[in-house]
Amino acid sequence: MKQMKQPVVSLQWFGGQSRVGERILSLFDRYKLPTSSYFDYTAGGLAIPLRIAMTRRGQNVTVNDRCRYTAIGARALLLELPQPIDFWIAKIPPVSERVRGVLTELVEEAHLSSRRILEKDTAFTQDVIQYVDAVATLCQDQNTLLLALGRTLLDATFRSLGWSRKTANGEVVSDWTPQSVFERMCYHLGGITLAQQKVAEQGGHHHVFCEDCDNLASVASTIHKDAVVYIDPAWPWSKKIGMGAKNPYFFLSGPLSDILSGVRVPPSHIRWDDYTDEQIMEELCKWIDGSFERGAHAFIPNNQTSNRPHPDFMEEFLRERYASQVVYSQRFSAHSMGHRTTRPASYDYAEHWWVILNEGEALL
Ligand SMILES: C[S@@+](CC[C@H](N)C(=O)[O-])C[C@H]1O[C@@H](n2cnc3c(N)ncnc32)[C@H](O)[C@@H]1O
Repeated sequence: MKQMKQPVVSLQWFGGQSRVGERILSLFDRYKLPTSSYFDYTAGGLAIPLRIAMTRRGQNVTVNDRCRYTAIGARALLLELPQPIDFWIAKIPPVSERVRGVLTELVEEAHLSSRRILEKDTAFTQDVIQYVDAVATLCQDQNTLLLALGRTLLDATFRSLGWSRKTANGEVVSDWTPQSVFERMCYHLGGITLAQQKVAEQGGHHHVFCEDCDNLASVASTIHKDAVVYIDPAWPWSKKIGMGAKNPYFFLSGPLSDILSGVRVPPSHIRWDDYTDEQIMEELCKWIDGSFERGAHAFIPNNQTSNRPHPDFMEEFLRERYASQVVYSQRFSAHSMGHRTTRPASYDYAEHWWVILNEGEALL
């Protein structure tokens, strides 16, 4: 069967890596990495694991991210059995349902606050707000429907960073009705059910975690055994880029995850912002070593020149720590990847990957 270029469904994730998916998968072939098991420690929008699960026969995929929206999406796409789209449409609550839930609370707080903050203040009408809360409340045990609702809500944001008054194609969000939410959910269910079918056709066994990376090295050895572990974590932004300490995943892992799961949880602390480059690398190495102790075959970290530690610093650190276990280290500029960037033209934006093999494998 012809390989698909893009996943048919996206979690609309800020910073999703579908643009580099083929390049990462080519590393598997080049270094003859075992293709039986892929473990993504910070899977975000699932760009890479979903591509593998949909296109590579018998490949097992393990997905983690501490973001609950990612876990909902991953459970829906990788674990839920495929069903015809009508099965799911019949389960969407009627458009007359109303519940006062998390979205209602967030909007009320935004209206009470003297400074309306982007993350809380949506242009949805009261009817839409309470219908969204009704769907989230009544569909708690159905990740497929929660994912369709999540994708619908992201249509009403600016690049998944915060609420917007207009959709990407110019529709006015305050014109939405509960029926618009229902119809958008049906539209997104089309992509979701197609992806579920493709995942099931490839026949892998998948796992989903919603943990801090600190807890992953201790998960079952069977899951790490021979796994290729990939990590594209939330590196702090370099001062040159001027993003400050703003966490670009705040909307996804905060308000969106709260609305979909019906529970408000304090947002995870982005602790690396306060760390020195050395401290960040020590933490990363703890995750690498822990995975190797459990039997992982290789660990592939990825970073960009826009973030900290700079890839040059990482290069030196990783070479010193892992020596000949580092079998691949390569930087690609945005231009060589055919990827347009919003960074200032003067800024040399590039992505950098390393392949570090478990001890003993390096000599193969
Ligand atoms: C750059 S995004 C990953 C994007 C992903 N590769 C994709 O293609 O969509 C970074 C992710 O790391 C997650 N993350 C950051 N620190 C984490 C930690 N300590 N434990 C678990 N997840 C973490 C964030 O929630 C975010 O989803």
